[in-house]
Amino acid sequence: MTEKNAKLVIGDKTYEFPIISGSVGPDVIDIRTLYKQTGLFTFDPGYTSTGSTESQITYIDGDEGTLLYRGYPIEQLAEKSNFVEVAYLLLNGELPTAAEYDKFSETVIRHTMLHEQIVKFYTGFRRDAHPMAITCGAVGAMSAFYHDSTDITDEKQREIATIRLIAKMPTIVAWAYKYSIGQPFVYPRNDLDFASNFLRMCFAVPAEEYEVSPTLARAMDRIFTLHADHEQNASTSTVRLAGSSHANPFACIAAGVASLWGPAHGGANEAALMMLREIGTPDRIPEYVARAKDKSDPFRLMGFGHRVYKNYDPRAKVMQETAREVLAELGVENNPTLQVAQQLEKIALEDEYFVEKKLYPNVDFYSGIILDAIGFPTSMFTAIFALARTVGWVSQWKEMIEDPTQKIGRPRQLYTGSDSRDYTDIGTR
Ligand code: SDX
Repeated sequence: MTEKNAKLVIGDKTYEFPIISGSVGPDVIDIRTLYKQTGLFTFDPGYTSTGSTESQITYIDGDEGTLLYRGYPIEQLAEKSNFVEVAYLLLNGELPTAAEYDKFSETVIRHTMLHEQIVKFYTGFRRDAHPMAITCGAVGAMSAFYHDSTDITDEKQREIATIRLIAKMPTIVAWAYKYSIGQPFVYPRNDLDFASNFLRMCFAVPAEEYEVSPTLARAMDRIFTLHADHEQNASTSTVRLAGSSHANPFACIAAGVASLWGPAHGGANEAALMMLREIGTPDRIPEYVARAKDKSDPFRLMGFGHRVYKNYDPRAKVMQETAREVLAELGVENNPTLQVAQQLEKIALEDEYFVEKKLYPNVDFYSGIILDAIGFPTSMFTAIFALARTVGWVSQWKEMIEDPTQKIGRPRQLYTGSDSRDYTDIGTR
């Protein structure tokens, strides 16, 4: 990293702070000594201009609309790789050799089963519990079932916890779905690949054999890859902050699941499909576009806009292509929801409000159409996002925990509340 300096003039004093360059992307001003030197804090709610960490895992160029996992463009990985290989890449920094891939894949497969007591844990929920509520609870509860992998100072335990989280999320999410529809849990199989195993656990029933469609399995695997990681987004930052206190990895990932649930973040895929359904037909699109532009109306186009992408989200492009493939495979090319989505995208991208604010479809705009076509209810969409993002969360958590300079995260604030004042007895108020 090369170093230059930034000068900050406050009153009659000038302070200097090093400017540090990464391998690609914007330089940063290292302000770690700002408070010590000046007695001032920075103020950046929402972290619009603040880097919280150094990382080597994922890079986004929001203006170009590019996304790199360990330097590899997401388009190439979505086309040529698979989710288990991408998990290895994000965790270890390099693509695996054939032998490394086989060993990693076999290890993941051997950890897909859940502790049988967790079945009882599920039966404590109401049947209509949201799959994200169950997923958040079940992941947190893993701390209570896998004590032998909660010591974050032990590298072997960290590795086992990482594998358990990646491997067991499909079972946790599939069982949340089965529980919500009153069907028996389907156990993972060791002769199926990651995505096929998940689809079978979701859609197989004991009454008959279940054949996984290779096209749907490929589409599912690609959706997992597209959602695997995304720099320091809200849920990943939540995992890092929780992990900075040295909480166990299961508790940290449960915190990430909770943050992802929000409709402004991972909950947008569920909200986007519900919005497309509410619009219903292309002739109603102008009414909703007008509402999205109306400052007095809280309505936003769900699946549109992004804090970083000020160009087309590259994941949305791959997702749109996958939607076409899946709908063609299922013989529903003229799916009305896809038609509304494509029309809405066209209208919005020609509207000066969206052009001026650089609002484009994001990863959540098309994903719901695919998941809906495969047969998932909208309530499952964010849980599937969490399943995939677990790979990114554990990779980022690993990077943080292994950083010898790692400190507990503890932001400061601009206090605008009452200055010190004396207590008064209730009788005198
Ligand atoms: C994800 O961070 C990540 O990387 C997240 C993610 C990941 O992989 O982890 O990519 C996954 O969360 C994708 C985003 C999913 N969310 C949505 O689709 C919800 C709808 N989008 C928005 O709520 C919004 O665009 C955000 C939350 C995604 C981004 O919000 P920002 O960066 O804080 O931007 P902003 O809210 O300040 O908006 C800037 C302007 C505002 O207008 P002004 O106040 O400047 O006049 O654009 C407007 C907003 O009103 N705007 C929208 C809009 N999104 C932003 N107007 C209408 N519809 C929208 N969708």
